[in-house]
Amino acid sequence: MELLFEQIISGLATVGYAVVPKFLGSDLTGQLLSENHSGFEGGRFHTAGVGRGNGHAVRNEIRTDAVDWLDPQNLSEALAIYWQRMEDLRMAINQQLFLGLVSFEAHLARFAPGGFYLPHLDRHREAGGSARILSTVVYLDQDWRPEIGGQLRLYTDPGAGVNGPSIDIFPDAGQLVVFLAAEFWHEVCVSTRERCSITGWFRGREIDPMLF
Ligand code: OGA
Ligand code: MN
Repeated sequence: MELLFEQIISGLATVGYAVVPKFLGSDLTGQLLSENHSGFEGGRFHTAGVGRGNGHAVRNEIRTDAVDWLDPQNLSEALAIYWQRMEDLRMAINQQLFLGLVSFEAHLARFAPGGFYLPHLDRHREAGGSARILSTVVYLDQDWRPEIGGQLRLYTDPGAGVNGPSIDIFPDAGQLVVFLAAEFWHEVCVSTRERCSITGWFRGREIDPMLF
């Protein structure tokens, strides 16, 4: 199996997350960045919200990013390559870790300068029907420097959450971060520059809460 996939699987199996520089090549990353820009300029992004169902609302004090959900039936050439790579990863993970990942969903994301996303989990442990198992983020911006901010702060001890240790991951072009969606608190620190990425989730089987 591909070395990068092995690294991701062993990271997930040991600490529950993996950080993989150069997961996507620079040509593909550049193409995805320009599609992110043109999608935003073309008005296809909308301000992201928080919460599920009737509780869903735009909350600019919690997160400021704008997103464009991908339709797997209608992808550009570059996004189709991204999607296939994530599908290959999904199948490799299933073979080795038996996480039962049955589907993938993803959106383009853009934080305007000054943007952030406060600490959160991508899936609440008690949420019955939700089935996000793994969170994934691929970063698209070239020449990121630490003084720009915008790092992903990942709290590495699920038991301690935001009171425990954390690592800062700067959004370097082509880098992938993967982590267990229900376990790891994380935040996007304030970025002084526009920050573009593709965020995706591998999902498990949906369980109908009416069955319980
Ligand atoms: C998210 C998120 C992290 C990042 O979209 O839920 O936490 O680094 N993104 O963009
Ligand atoms: Mn998140």
